[in-house]
Amino acid sequence: MINKNKKILVTCALPYANGPIHIGHLLEHIQADIWVRYHRMKGKVVFFICADDSHGTAIMLKSKLMNICPEDLIKIIFKKHLKDLSNFNISYDNYSHTHSKENLYFSQKIFLILKNKGYIKEKNIFQLYDPIENIFLPDRLVKGQCPKCFVINQYGDHCENCGSVYNAQDLINPKSQISGVTPILKDSVHLFLNLPHFEKKLKLWINSGILDINIKNKIKEWFKKGLKLWDISRDAPYFGFNIPGYINKYFYVWLDAPICYISTFKKLCIKNKRINFKEFWKNSKTTDLYHFIGKDIIYFHSIFWPAILEGINFRKPTKIFVHGYVTFNKEKMSKSKNKLIKASTWLKFFDSDSLRYYYASKSSSSVKDIEFNLKEFINRINSDIVNKIVNLASRCSSFINNDFNGLLGNKLLDLDLYSLFLQKNKKIYKLFKYRKYSSIIYIIVRYAEKSNYYINNEKPWNLFKNDKYNIKIQLICTMGINLFRFLITWLKPIMPDLSSRVEKFLNIKLSWESLSTPLLNHKISKFNHLYHRLNHVSSKIFV
Ligand code: MSP
Ligand code: ZN
Repeated sequence: MINKNKKILVTCALPYANGPIHIGHLLEHIQADIWVRYHRMKGKVVFFICADDSHGTAIMLKSKLMNICPEDLIKIIFKKHLKDLSNFNISYDNYSHTHSKENLYFSQKIFLILKNKGYIKEKNIFQLYDPIENIFLPDRLVKGQCPKCFVINQYGDHCENCGSVYNAQDLINPKSQISGVTPILKDSVHLFLNLPHFEKKLKLWINSGILDINIKNKIKEWFKKGLKLWDISRDAPYFGFNIPGYINKYFYVWLDAPICYISTFKKLCIKNKRINFKEFWKNSKTTDLYHFIGKDIIYFHSIFWPAILEGINFRKPTKIFVHGYVTFNKEKMSKSKNKLIKASTWLKFFDSDSLRYYYASKSSSSVKDIEFNLKEFINRINSDIVNKIVNLASRCSSFINNDFNGLLGNKLLDLDLYSLFLQKNKKIYKLFKYRKYSSIIYIIVRYAEKSNYYINNEKPWNLFKNDKYNIKIQLICTMGINLFRFLITWLKPIMPDLSSRVEKFLNIKLSWESLSTPLLNHKISKFNHLYHRLNHVSSKIFV
């Protein structure tokens, strides 16, 4: 039976510390933050965590190029990431990084448990090696001709032209992306997690409703092919954690990155002694665990990660919520393409609520990509937020503030309209719960239109011409302000800045429970600009 009072732990995927947070990353943090804020508003106990993914070859090479040590690089990036995420009001209870001492402890401890249980195997393998830089080359650092379609300049794992997947050794005329030389084949001993051992248990778990049906079908294909041993070690030079008992061997980033979900939570428990670590990770009776991830990292979260958890007798995720990519001209927004908007650049042109609203208006619970369109974004904010929602408050409050000393009237003129809004609450809760944010926005905009229609019909400005103190003006505007209060309460998880300005303006804390009591005989504050119209900007916003 579903226990409605379960406490929940929510995570986002760990952004790589080799570049800035961009608005592609932000889709995930915003979708998760809206969900978390909704649950907090409903009174649930929620913990929300994330961290930087600070290990790996890319970070090591980048720091070398910058002439600093990787530890310094990840510190600089960590500060920037933290600032960007908090500027977008992503309300993490703890944000850490994979290079922390807690993560070292858990990574090594978990490895030793897996090893003692016999789940780790050793195997000698051959890999491409750069003889100038003395380094084994990860797939992303070797390019050559695709063995299938013969198009040049393809990475070591797959071809962007024909989509085929192959081994780096199969590339024709491979070249190291570090030194430019032709790599040689070199062997070394690697450590592997015995995934086939977990196959049965994983299949059962996948079938228990943790993933969207379309994604489940994709995973079934992986199972059909059969699970293979998973290489969890990398040779020096590498920036990561040493594998205990081995010299010059490091954990592959994808081993210690998900373990950082555990260690980041542990750090939170150290800060807040009332949180019970075991209650969240040892069993799932009173707690739920949710991961928000992008579609590119499904395999890691639905196969590798639960296998590790199974191997150490920890609980597995309750659900994995997968989103598509933010695209620009139908291409994934990413560091390697130059059509990208950094989080920090965004804030030079716009506010954070506007992006949160725009993404919500385009988010469903599906894995479909989301095309970012600057013109559409600006039009949507101006039309919905400025013209429909904020304008409602502005026109009503001017009468209340100028002629009624800021005091709302003592009754509701249209009880039916008020209850129509009240009845929508349940539907809105449900849509938040199932992450159907675009449907919420659709309702909010339709209800904003209804509210404006009410004012237009009642025409308080006509009454004003004869007697500016006519009590009916006060009552019409009281209705308008009450309807506005609904709209912003529904928007609160989506637009936290706007809603806190509205809380000051209305002199109340916006909450769902209080909506059943209308705001009457209540003093509101002066109406200061709640939201500024957005102007079109140049394409300079892209880097
Ligand atoms: N470090 C790994 C995750 C480890 S989780 C234990 C990683 N990092 S990432 O920086 O490449 O991506 C972090 C998250 O951002 C992923 O969920 C990824 O799908 C998401 N996105 C990165 N670019 C994106 C878009 N353009 N659009 C939407 N999400 C994107 O993967
Ligand atoms: Zn090809």
